Amino acid sequence: MKDHNICVLGIESTAHTFGASVIKNKKVLSNERDAFTSETGGMIPYEVADHHVDCCDTIIKSALETANVTMKEIQLISFSQSPGLGAMLRIGAMVARSLSSIHNIPLIGVNHCIAHLEIGRLLTDAKDPILLYASGANTQVIAYDAGKYRVFGETLDMGIGNFLDQLGREFGLGFPAGAKIGMLAKKWRDEHGDEGYIELPYTVKGMDVGFGGIFTKAKQLYNTKEYSVEQLCFSVEETVYAMLMEVAERAMAHCGKSELLLGGGVACAPRLQEMATQMCKDRNGESFALENQFNVDNAAMIAWLGVLMYTAGEKTELSDAKIDPYLRTDDVKVNWR
Ligand code: FE2
Repeated sequence: MKDHNICVLGIESTAHTFGASVIKNKKVLSNERDAFTSETGGMIPYEVADHHVDCCDTIIKSALETANVTMKEIQLISFSQSPGLGAMLRIGAMVARSLSSIHNIPLIGVNHCIAHLEIGRLLTDAKDPILLYASGANTQVIAYDAGKYRVFGETLDMGIGNFLDQLGREFGLGFPAGAKIGMLAKKWRDEHGDEGYIELPYTVKGMDVGFGGIFTKAKQLYNTKEYSVEQLCFSVEETVYAMLMEVAERAMAHCGKSELLLGGGVACAPRLQEMATQMCKDRNGESFALENQFNVDNAAMIAWLGVLMYTAGEKTELSDAKIDPYLRTDDVKVNWR
């Protein structure tokens, strides 16, 4: 069964975002989301779980209304089953199970990381890309190879988004800080070009990266008050994105692939997109960036991976619809490619 023309409701809840989306006949009809925010920047799981409980019905209703469909038309419910934070995953899974059982609609649980890659294959011309997945908690290079999605490289300490947010807090930029760091870095580049780069610990080991050394060094430099925040942000951005480009390029060479797809919240960064375009051009490849609404955690990607798996014959029974917070990407059985 390879007919992808069905109507699916996707539900995302792996971390701070609760999302719902309707995809019908391969078209994204709605992609609603509400992300937990806090003044202090902390993400306390039970507070985020409360957020998801509070907004889940509104978000789902809104996704159906925007798509102009009713539950009667939904033929499949897809939810993020793995990996993620247990307290949040549980809310999405519970909502999905309830809707499935009340409305008698088939259910499918999907892997969030693979969903980031598959939405790229739906919405761009990328056919078999390396995914550079750069978000708060995740920094990974993922690709389809020898029958599975495999993680070729990842962060050895923190995710790049968390690194930028923590550094932003040190710099007094508030939370979230990634976009602000990007704006300050751009201000420096606009005024000084490539001048004034401060060398920071560049940590690449094979296809893995690390941000701890840069964090410590940048914080020390900030405390000396010898450099402007703009200059520090510029130096940080150039360093960490160059590291990501190096591992992405190595993965492309290793796998013999010519396409790079950016995914995750940090993929919204214009400078990262610019560097990816340049790197791919230099090696006769092609770089693909999605609209920001599909870079950040979103339910459209969950809905679409659900369609792929379901039409390939997969289905999750209610009794098997438990969350799997630690499932590894390469443990997912791939039968839709
Ligand atoms: Fe994500």
